[in-house]
Amino acid sequence: MARSSKAVGCKTMSALVLKNIGHAFLGRTVLNSINLSVATSEIVALVGPSGCGKSTLIHIASGIIEQIQGSVEHGYNRHGMVFQDTRLLPWANARDNIAYPLRIAGIGKTERRKLAEKAAEQVSLEQIDLDKYPVELSGGMRQRVSIARALVMEPDFIYFDEPFTALDVALKRRMQDLLIASAQTSRFAGLFVTHDLMEATRIAHRIIVLDVYGNSIIGQRPIPGEPGTRSDIEVFTRVQEFLHDDPLFRHIHDVDERIVA
Ligand SMILES: Nc1ncnc2c1ncn2[C@@H]1O[C@H](COP(=O)(O)OP(=O)(O)O)[C@@H](O)[C@H]1O
Ligand SMILES: [Mg+2]
Repeated sequence: MARSSKAVGCKTMSALVLKNIGHAFLGRTVLNSINLSVATSEIVALVGPSGCGKSTLIHIASGIIEQIQGSVEHGYNRHGMVFQDTRLLPWANARDNIAYPLRIAGIGKTERRKLAEKAAEQVSLEQIDLDKYPVELSGGMRQRVSIARALVMEPDFIYFDEPFTALDVALKRRMQDLLIASAQTSRFAGLFVTHDLMEATRIAHRIIVLDVYGNSIIGQRPIPGEPGTRSDIEVFTRVQEFLHDDPLFRHIHDVDERIVA
């Protein structure tokens, strides 16, 4: 029986708890018996091959779709979302895109502008960028706008669904640094879906691995040290160890697509 509850006032320090989550599309099982939790201020990276159900799990956890089995408990107050596809309104400039959730929440124009500009500053967008429309912005700038739009409501939890996958290597790195800094300043927790192990190892406190069929979480690895304090060589060495010596990550690079029987 699907259930969603808000663990307000409970003693747990968990920002998110998923218990025994199962889901199917048109009778085909996508997720089965998924249990995971994210602690307050913790960034957890969720990795797994394409098609294994990562986005579905994010949609269930955030309440976009309802699971067929299991329960979702939110220990957080408010969440934001950042997707690979930035989903900006093409007819609104960057400032109005960032302020959009405030508008929905009924916040007045002056306050909206102030809060949008504050969020823009957090992702290093300048005043001149805020007057531009999405079509006038580069891919990285558009992703900054979408992160600022998530930050503007001051969430204590953010869902990230492969937000930097389409960006080139240098830009991806800058965006990861921005995310790490912003998580530390704003103290949000997050569930970050990626299939890039280097990215997971840079930005997260812990990596959780889904199996090829989304049937279970096959394991997890804590990443020592705080994100932002790990040197490049440390990150690189750890990823090499994961890929070459750790059976948990074997299917990450062996299988690109879920094989449908
Ligand atoms: N709305 C939907 N209707 C039917 N099948 C879906 C739907 N959304 C996702 N799927 C299927 O569920 C599986 C998992 O999808 P998804 O969660 O997007 O995987 P991932 O994000 O890991 O790549 C895929 O086989 C996909 O085709
Ligand atoms: Mg996906």
